[in-house]
Amino acid sequence: MDEKQIREALQTVLHPKLKKSLIDTGMIRNISIDDNAVKLTLALKSDRSPLKEILIHEIEKVVGELPEISSVQIEFTTLNREEIGRLFPKPPLKGIEKVKHFLAVASGKGGVGKTTIAVNVALALVKQGYKVGLLDADVYGPSVPVMLDISEALYQDDNMIMPKEKYGLQIMSLGMTVEQNEAFIWRGPLVSKVIHQLLDQVQWGELDYLVIDLPPGTGDPSITIAQAIPHCSILMITTPQEIALADVRRAIGLFNKLGQPIVGLVENMSYFLCSNCTEPIEIFGHGGGVRLSQETGLPLLGTIPIDLELRQSGDDGVPIMVSATNSLAGLVFQTIAQKISDAMQ
Ligand SMILES: Nc1ncnc2c1ncn2[C@@H]1O[C@H](COP(=O)(O)OP(=O)(O)O)[C@@H](O)[C@H]1O
Ligand SMILES: [Mg+2]
Repeated sequence: MDEKQIREALQTVLHPKLKKSLIDTGMIRNISIDDNAVKLTLALKSDRSPLKEILIHEIEKVVGELPEISSVQIEFTTLNREEIGRLFPKPPLKGIEKVKHFLAVASGKGGVGKTTIAVNVALALVKQGYKVGLLDADVYGPSVPVMLDISEALYQDDNMIMPKEKYGLQIMSLGMTVEQNEAFIWRGPLVSKVIHQLLDQVQWGELDYLVIDLPPGTGDPSITIAQAIPHCSILMITTPQEIALADVRRAIGLFNKLGQPIVGLVENMSYFLCSNCTEPIEIFGHGGGVRLSQETGLPLLGTIPIDLELRQSGDDGVPIMVSATNSLAGLVFQTIAQKISDAMQ
């Protein structure tokens, strides 16, 4: 008996769901024979796969029936993410079928201006003539409804949820489905499910860009989006402080690991230009964005000053790209959007 004969015998053991042999799927590994005792590894989707017992039984039966074989020992391992994606491709998500480009706005931590930038960059893309949607995927603190002053609840049509249109944007936020002040406490699997629904069951329609406001950090939502939309580009927001960079580096590391393209960096709250000063005041330090750009090779697409009008516009629910399109901050958003659309053609 040699490995080849064992492989041939195992060709007959099919994966019940995939209807393919375990050998052809690559789920059987490391076959070894020592003194008529066979050892092999079975790779499954998860440790608790309900198919485990059935497959053990089948493998033991087929290999055990071969002449001279005295025993079969099976070890387990789990398939990696790439293998799972290849063997078990997910059906396309209905709601986003007609979306051309995806841009997720991410940050290392909260309060760095992620939502402000997601909203205004989305509006700057509208100004360029694109059809744009904005998905508030910050399930822990959806603030898009406040920044765009949307209080209406959503309605359903044909079992699909219709996004709300405002300022030429198609908008969807969990903040539009529940009381705005209600606290959100989501557990991992639930977060994944909700984000899937926001992509699958919302009628996004034909869009050039779907801008996604991610929650801060590297938690479940970022991973869910990466798995659901592998070609989603990331726009990474940072602030100038060295201390903030550690979190941003970690987030960049995660997106790199997931194979997610990062379109560039934006540094927010870069400096303060007071009306009586001649020099900009660098409240949060200096050069974080530039340093990170040099270190990672990612382009720095823009630096946004600390701007009272920008803060006010967020609180008032009228974004600066609507109220003061050609203000300093407005022009920076337009430049960032231009660079993004150039890069994502
Ligand atoms: N460049 C800026 N200048 C002034 N205020 C800003 C600036 N960027 C963001 N803010 C304000 O900071 C707060 C946090 O911004 P937000 O966009 O909600 O951050 P995040 O989504 O990362 O938590 C908001 O009140 C927002 O208006
Ligand atoms: Mg936010």
